Amino acid sequence: LKKVGILISGRGSNMMALVERASGYEIALVASDKPEAAGIGWAREHGIATFVQSPKGMLKGDYEAAIDRALRDAGVQIIALAGYMRLLSDDFVARWRGKIINIHPSLLPKYKGLDTHARAIDAGDAVAGCSVHVVTEELDGGEVLGQAEVPILPGDTPDTLAARVLEAEHRLYPRVLAEFCAR
Ligand code: GAR
Repeated sequence: LKKVGILISGRGSNMMALVERASGYEIALVASDKPEAAGIGWAREHGIATFVQSPKGMLKGDYEAAIDRALRDAGVQIIALAGYMRLLSDDFVARWRGKIINIHPSLLPKYKGLDTHARAIDAGDAVAGCSVHVVTEELDGGEVLGQAEVPILPGDTPDTLAARVLEAEHRLYPRVLAEFCAR
């Protein structure tokens, strides 16, 4: 089984889906840049190894070196970003070239970056969705490994659309991670 490390910054619902639907991989570590991330408490309660490192007051290189060490100490082979809201440096990406994937709440290449749901609604799109992609130096720009679509309904707000997309994320991410680990 491939050993996966998950990086989170908050709620961690995608991390929970990756844990609960794990097959073809195992979760070796959940790491957070936010000590108060709700997902970290959940991971601890579920007996998963956790690593918390706030970048506050640290040089980015030192912060990332600490994460890198924790991941390697845990035997991690693949990194899954799950609502990790911090840009990884080119150096870090190069050290894990082709081994980091991310879930992004839009149908890439549309709406890279933030506020994806508001942008899709404002554009009058009929569908929205989520993408799992390989992480490269280009923000939300690496190879797309899988996508799921949901409708945008009349009266949708960014929040109602986000909730619909999030359910699709929870189905998509474990499946695509398993496929990625098998290749
Ligand atoms: C998810 O919708 C994820 O796609 C998005 O943040 C949310 C995290 O929720 N990621 C990004 O916007 C990445 N730039 P979660 O913490 O409950 O998984």
